[in-house]
Amino acid sequence: MYSELLVSTAAAVATVAVGVIAAAAIVFTACFMQTKKLKVTRLYADRYAEVKKPAKLRKNKRTDQKTDAYPPANSDKKDEEVLPLCRIGLISDLHFPMLYVNTDDVIYTLAKEDCDLIAVTGDLCQNAKGKTAMLAFMKKLSESLKGVPILVVPGNHDVSYVCKKDPLKIQEYFREVESCGGNIKVLRNETASVELKGSGSRIVAAGFDEKLIGDKNRYIGTFEKALSEAGEKDKLLLLMHNPDIMEHVSEAVKKGGKYSVALAGHTHGGQVYIPFNLEFELLRDDSLPRKGFVYGLYEYCENNRLYITCGLGQSLLPVRLGTVPEIAFICF
Ligand SMILES: [Fe+2]
Repeated sequence: MYSELLVSTAAAVATVAVGVIAAAAIVFTACFMQTKKLKVTRLYADRYAEVKKPAKLRKNKRTDQKTDAYPPANSDKKDEEVLPLCRIGLISDLHFPMLYVNTDDVIYTLAKEDCDLIAVTGDLCQNAKGKTAMLAFMKKLSESLKGVPILVVPGNHDVSYVCKKDPLKIQEYFREVESCGGNIKVLRNETASVELKGSGSRIVAAGFDEKLIGDKNRYIGTFEKALSEAGEKDKLLLLMHNPDIMEHVSEAVKKGGKYSVALAGHTHGGQVYIPFNLEFELLRDDSLPRKGFVYGLYEYCENNRLYITCGLGQSLLPVRLGTVPEIAFICF
C-alpha cells in the first residue's frame, strides 16, 4: 500500500516536471523565433514628426512604434526652415555571433532604399568569437552599398567584451572594421560630413565613443566641433551607442546648440519585455532608459529628436519578447 502511494506520487511529480519542461521549451522556442524576424521601420523624424513620451510618463504603458509616418504624412506643411530631406539607414547591436536574422536580407533591405548614409551604432560583436563573421558582414555591406558612407560608433560589447578595454586592441579592432571597405568610417569622438546629392547641403555627423571609455568633455567638444562645421543649410546628425551620452551633449544644446536628430541603440528595446521598466530599474545602470527612453522616437532636450533602435542581435540569451530585430530608415 505504502509503495503504491509512493509510485503514484512519483508518477505525478514526473508528469508535472515533464509538463513544466515542455512548457518552458515551447516558450523558449517561441521567444527564439522572434530573434529571426526582421522589422523595417520608416520614420520621419523632423520637427513635425509624432514623438513618444518616455514610457515612465505614460505610466509604463508600452507603445508601438508608429511606422506609417514615412514619407511624411504632413509634408504639405510649408516652412522656410525645412531643409531637403535626407535618409539614414540605421542598424545597431548586431552582437555577432548572437545574430539570427538573415544577414543577406539586412544588406538587401539597406541597399535598395537609396540612403544618404548608413549608421551602425555599436555592439557589432557580442564577443571575440563573432569577429570573423562580423568582418565578413561589413565587407559585404560595404560592397553592396556601392560607395554610400557607412558610419560606425563603438558599443560596450565591442570595447569591453571583445577588446577588454585595452586601448590598443580597440584601435586595432576598429582598424579592421574600416579595412572592410573604403566607405566605412569609425567615429570615436570625431566628425564626418556627407554631401546630400544635388541639394548643396550636407549631413555633418558627430560620432561619440562608447560611454564605458568616454569622457564628458570630449563628448561636448565633439558636438561643438560638429556644430562649428555645419553650415546653415547642413543637417547635424549625432551617433552614439548608449543614449546616456545625450545627457552630456544636452549641456551644450541648452547653451544654444541645435542638432537635427540623434540616433542610438544599446537598450535592445528591452530585449525580453519585463513590465514597469524593471529591467532598467533593477538590472542595469543606464540613466536614460531608467527615465523611460527605451525604444522609439523621442523629443529630447529643447525639442530635438532622439531615436533609439531595438537593434538586430541579442545579448546574453538568444531570445526576444516584445520586440523583434529592426532596421530603421530615418528621414529628416
Ligand atoms: Fe547591445
